[in-house]
Amino acid sequence: MSVTLTNQEAVAARFARLKAREPILQVRGLTKTFPTAEGERTVLDRIDLVTHRREFLCVVGPSGCGKSTLIRTIAGLEDPQGGDILVAGQPVHGPGPDRAMVFQGYTLFPWLTVLGNVMFGLRMANMASTEAKRQAGQWLDLVGLEAYADAYPAQLSGGMKQRVAIARALAIQPRILLMDEPFSALDAKTRARMQSYLVDIWSKIDITVVFITHDLDEAVLLADRILVLKANPGAVVDLIEVPALRPAGGRSLEDPALKATLSRLEDMIHRHERAATDDEETITPVVRLAAAGDEVN
Ligand SMILES: Nc1ncnc2c1ncn2[C@@H]1O[C@H](COP(=O)(O)OP(=O)(O)OP(=O)(O)O)[C@@H](O)[C@H]1O
Ligand SMILES: [Mg+2]
Repeated sequence: MSVTLTNQEAVAARFARLKAREPILQVRGLTKTFPTAEGERTVLDRIDLVTHRREFLCVVGPSGCGKSTLIRTIAGLEDPQGGDILVAGQPVHGPGPDRAMVFQGYTLFPWLTVLGNVMFGLRMANMASTEAKRQAGQWLDLVGLEAYADAYPAQLSGGMKQRVAIARALAIQPRILLMDEPFSALDAKTRARMQSYLVDIWSKIDITVVFITHDLDEAVLLADRILVLKANPGAVVDLIEVPALRPAGGRSLEDPALKATLSRLEDMIHRHERAATDDEETITPVVRLAAAGDEVN
């Protein structure tokens, strides 16, 4: 006898499976401050987060809320003032091969070929050249760029460069792929294509993705769960489950469940942005605004 699940039940079953997998990233009470002229400024305030193996987590929040600081601290590029970060149970003290990062800007080495770029981390890890070449070739295959192995970055489009950056990051076989607005410099069409490439790659390999975006559409199209941050100081507002499966052609923003999630996210973010602007109203403006009678035309 076959049992047909409703969509809601299938989504619930999917989250139950996801949460049963081992935690890959654990962030506990993470606090990060930066020195300013007025003293220490708290940018991340006691962030708690658990991400499970093969989860796709998106992080959203207003500009300046500390998204990049959070991902850089997870990458080990920033030292926190408090709390800790564990990757597969091991405490993070600086960068390591269990985490790889893809940035917004194009960060390929312009003097290396596409293959050379993907081989770079493998060679740094002392892998023999022939083996590094073989493995890099497979990663290029996975991102559909095997035909461009001998090209130089300057000969590639923006989307292709980011595919090489993804192949280069994955080649070292990290547990976590950290992505800081990786597609925000791309045009809308290329961006949509890159989103489906990424989901396709993610579904094929054992990788946990932490993906920062300020685009809420992108977050609901990609994520299993979405971490919502607020600003001043950066703190967790909520961690929400995206109530949708991943149909063969990809998710659609027309899906009523995604529409509902989007408006929930918008409400959440605007509520906190309004609260932040209300605080700012007590600050004396330094910009002298034009008054009536000052017209320049
Ligand atoms: N090295 C630093 N020294 C001092 N302040 C910093 C440093 N890096 C970040 N900040 C401050 O921390 C806050 C958070 O910055 P961050 O870049 O993490 O925000 P974000 O959420 O990624 O913003 P955006 O959406 O614009 O990319 C900002 O106010 C920023 O000015
Ligand atoms: Mg940022």
